[in-house]
Amino acid sequence: MLLLNLDHVALAVRDLDEALDRFARLYGVTAASREVVASEGVEEAMILVGGSQVQLLAPLSPDSPVARFLERRGEGIHHLAFAVPDLDAALAHLAAEGAELVDAEPRRGGGGSRIAFVHPRTFGGTLTELVEST
Ligand code: CO
Repeated sequence: MLLLNLDHVALAVRDLDEALDRFARLYGVTAASREVVASEGVEEAMILVGGSQVQLLAPLSPDSPVARFLERRGEGIHHLAFAVPDLDAALAHLAAEGAELVDAEPRRGGGGSRIAFVHPRTFGGTLTELVEST
């Protein structure tokens, strides 16, 4: 199998501080990590819930992809991320199967991970991220 597990569910939010406050107040969970990923135009935070992770994404500027997502669709689920043992092998397999890739080559994600996005058209409208486990 190409996938190890569901790595995280990502939510697009307009205001990261406000969203983290809301998660803390309502669910008693806090960010395990938080970082600016300038290349993606986002500030992201990872919340640990048991063995699962929820990623919050907030745009750094009005022209970032997440800002455009918020404009079009409002706050909500932005993507699903699956952990893979070998990202290069996974991308080669998907390309061979004719899947539409956003990233033909891996790029850097949060925490120094290697990631790649698969186009929503490949999975019925859901943006999918592959994260290489380190
Ligand atoms: Co993600």
